[in-house]
Amino acid sequence: MASILNRAMLHGGDYNPDQWLSSPDILARDIELMKQAHVNCVSLAIFAWSALEPEEGVYTFDWLQNVIDRLYENGIYTVLATPSGARPAWMAQKYPEVLRVDETLHRNHYGDRHNHCYTSPIYREKVWEMDSRLSKAFGNHPGVILWHISNEYSGACYCPLCQEEFRRFLKKKYKTLDALNAAYWTGFWSHTYTDWSQIEAPVPRGEMLLHGLSVDWHRFVTQRTVDFFNWEKAAVRAGGSELPVTTNLMSFYYDLDYTKFADSLDLVSWDSYPSWRTDPRGDVAVAIHTAMAHDYMRSLKRQPFLLMENTPNQVNWKQINRLKAPGQNLLAAMQAVAHGSNSVQYFQWRQSRGGNEKFHGAVVDHYGEPDTRVFREVAEVGKTLEQLAPLCKTCPQPQVALILDRENEWAIDEACSPRKPMRYEETLESHYQAFWRLGIGVDVVSADADLTPYRLVIAPMLYMYREGVAEKLRAFVEAGGTLVGTYWSGLVDENDLCYLGPTPAGGMHEVFGVRYQEIDPLRDTDENAMTWNDKTYALHDLCELVEPLADRWVEEGEDGPTACFAANEKTAEILACYEKDFYAGYPALTVHNFGKGKAYYLASRAEDAFYVDFYTKLAGELSLSRALDADLPEGVTATLREGEGCKVVCVQNFNTEPVSISLRTPVRPFGEPDGEAVTTLSLPGYGFAFVTP
Ligand code: GAL
Repeated sequence: MASILNRAMLHGGDYNPDQWLSSPDILARDIELMKQAHVNCVSLAIFAWSALEPEEGVYTFDWLQNVIDRLYENGIYTVLATPSGARPAWMAQKYPEVLRVDETLHRNHYGDRHNHCYTSPIYREKVWEMDSRLSKAFGNHPGVILWHISNEYSGACYCPLCQEEFRRFLKKKYKTLDALNAAYWTGFWSHTYTDWSQIEAPVPRGEMLLHGLSVDWHRFVTQRTVDFFNWEKAAVRAGGSELPVTTNLMSFYYDLDYTKFADSLDLVSWDSYPSWRTDPRGDVAVAIHTAMAHDYMRSLKRQPFLLMENTPNQVNWKQINRLKAPGQNLLAAMQAVAHGSNSVQYFQWRQSRGGNEKFHGAVVDHYGEPDTRVFREVAEVGKTLEQLAPLCKTCPQPQVALILDRENEWAIDEACSPRKPMRYEETLESHYQAFWRLGIGVDVVSADADLTPYRLVIAPMLYMYREGVAEKLRAFVEAGGTLVGTYWSGLVDENDLCYLGPTPAGGMHEVFGVRYQEIDPLRDTDENAMTWNDKTYALHDLCELVEPLADRWVEEGEDGPTACFAANEKTAEILACYEKDFYAGYPALTVHNFGKGKAYYLASRAEDAFYVDFYTKLAGELSLSRALDADLPEGVTATLREGEGCKVVCVQNFNTEPVSISLRTPVRPFGEPDGEAVTTLSLPGYGFAFVTP
């Protein structure tokens, strides 16, 4: 029979029976309660190293065997973790090198978790031994479906072993010191390296101003982490298990470029902890941010993913840990599914009695019985997911790509750029929210992604053009694609070295029909404006002064010399101009026909309303399909999953108030082929509906 991964939605969460081994009654009760909560899958052993190897070389797997067996007998599958995210005290005491060195170059003491060196040969050896033994013991158990490798890989180690690896990484990349010096422009302030051993990781009391070095360090940290992941994966394979592997990612986690994990992962999974009812911008903004996170995670492999963790009601690690209101847990679960998740898993199943997370929300709290609001709502999620099993083989398949490029973001932030903050991710979200409001799917991809599946590509603030990027964007437009680029684009190469000549580089100025001249950063209290399609929009943050590639000359008039332009086919058409400051009249929004396609250039950051109007028009012109043929009320979105002849739209209302949506094309309730087609959808506050177009 096909794995449950391919035939059902998973529902369950992190289960830590190792904390309850002295209470067999509780372990037995867990299974009864799981069945009541419609749980079909739990993640085991994530932080269980002490229970699995209490002394060096003494492996105690019996308890785990019992738990996996009993779960399986009761129809509950296991996602089995490797416990490398936290290690036993005996190991750190005997082998201090397993502990991490921080950026002050001091070695951490034992404590916390995720406190390990990714290079330490001893840590790698211990992890190999543990993972391969777990694989041998359980990797072919019929109840085990997936490997959960480690937990939320994060952070970096600055120990001498890691620094040596960093130098090795640089040698491999640059081959000669001359090449490295040239790439980093080290002649500036006499920072020229004359021996590889002089190179150190960027740290606060050391070299923080060689931007190329800093970006390379970020790349190295990603490479080390992926390498460690691959080491763990190889250990699992060496133990004889061919089950798929995942690791739980953290969506927009800044310090890793998750796109580099994509090839190693069989399945993407991630942990989602939105600030519902807390974020001062309100829950609709939280919904948009979370939707974009789901899309970013799904786009890593352009396949369904797993929601590996979320909380049934509250976390305990933010400043204010508000509860999800009634209905919000179910809606957040359905939002994940709408964007391509094939699971809804919680942290955690049973609330711990002690330790750091004793007041973190859990399905079963300290009271221990199912007659709680949280338990009832979780059970409802489980029941709902059972009806959604046919969605497993479907996935959103957007025609729009938004480029979120992590290396680009690091480079923008490391450089002494025109203003701080540059607001890269917020800017992307400003573009994204327009599509959310329109109910048009978006993939969130890196600048290295294949653009052929898309009709519209949006590349805001793509400051770094790595090799091949300009060529690809150009080819995309030439072949008929529509590209939206913005200010602060195409200025540097992959080492943060500025391109000489016209920019956006790589001939992209010809694609946009404009070229960069200067950029004026605004204070938070400053605003400029532009008028487009009879509406005036505020502009913020950065105003770029671009020069259209027009024929130019100066005429002497009565009031002195005036610059004159004459359009030619190389120049962009000006759609809107700045209205204030000395650059009033300069282009703020342009479009240029290039090849069979079109390239828009937005020279400043506009208020959100602009993106909604702009992309509504573009969506119409490009006939981009909307999930629902309707104008969606504020706070409502619709998401389409499709595949294997099945099309399902999930309509979600993030308002506390009910909404009614008039449809231009009728839909039927999902799963009821003979159900009545309707032209109005009414959703309660926090309501949702699955419908078939
Ligand atoms: C996650 C982590 C879990 C748990 C959870 C609490 O980041 O993977 O182990 O700590 O947060 O919200």
